[in-house]
Amino acid sequence: MIVSLIVAMGEDRAIGANNDLLWKIKDDLRLFMKTTANHAVIHGRKSFESIGTPLRNRTNIIITRDESYSFPGCFVSNSIDESISMAKKLEQHDEIFILGGAQIYKLTLEDVDRMYISHVKGSFPKADAHFPEVNFDEWNLVNSRSYPQNEENEYAFDFCIYERKK
Ligand SMILES: NC(=O)c1ccc[n+]([C@@H]2O[C@H](COP(=O)([O-])OP(=O)(O)OC[C@H]3O[C@@H](n4cnc5c(N)ncnc54)[C@H](OP(=O)(O)O)[C@@H]3O)[C@@H](O)[C@H]2O)c1
Repeated sequence: MIVSLIVAMGEDRAIGANNDLLWKIKDDLRLFMKTTANHAVIHGRKSFESIGTPLRNRTNIIITRDESYSFPGCFVSNSIDESISMAKKLEQHDEIFILGGAQIYKLTLEDVDRMYISHVKGSFPKADAHFPEVNFDEWNLVNSRSYPQNEENEYAFDFCIYERKK
């Protein structure tokens, strides 16, 4: 079973502000939907509430410390380890996805085998959520594709897939 994360981050590792994204980039949204479709996905409670609804055609797991938390159509877990083992049990293929946000990426980065990163070509000083620092020496870049800024993509970005070096 592969444990993956998927994120879009600015040049300053910015990922969000005010519990929302910092950009509207349709090609990135399409890549996110295509990559995660039909897999088990893990959301931090805040990121989940920012989306507001389970993602269709995916097994949605929310991490919260609130033991009474529930949301229709979602599984709930109270710890990172439990959420990962739950996702592995529920996954129908061979790859589970950590969807963030900042707190959850920080807690899981060491457990991840693969990262799908959209490197957004911009800096976002107003961001209040950031991806943790990554030592890219520990990762192989296995695929990369550039997308231009245009009427659908507020910013240009590179969609990169990294696998942890053995
Ligand atoms: N650009 C991207 O790709 C991307 C992706 C995802 C999110 N985001 C952005 O990231 C921001 C949200 O990130 P965030 O760091 O504020 O929140 P988050 O990581 O989405 O969620 C944090 C919540 O997770 C729960 N949690 C954290 N550690 C836990 C643990 N050890 N055990 C159990 N539960 C735990 C807590 O929920 P309770 O408070 O309920 O206990 C905590 O408040 C938003 O701006 C969002 O738009 C961006």
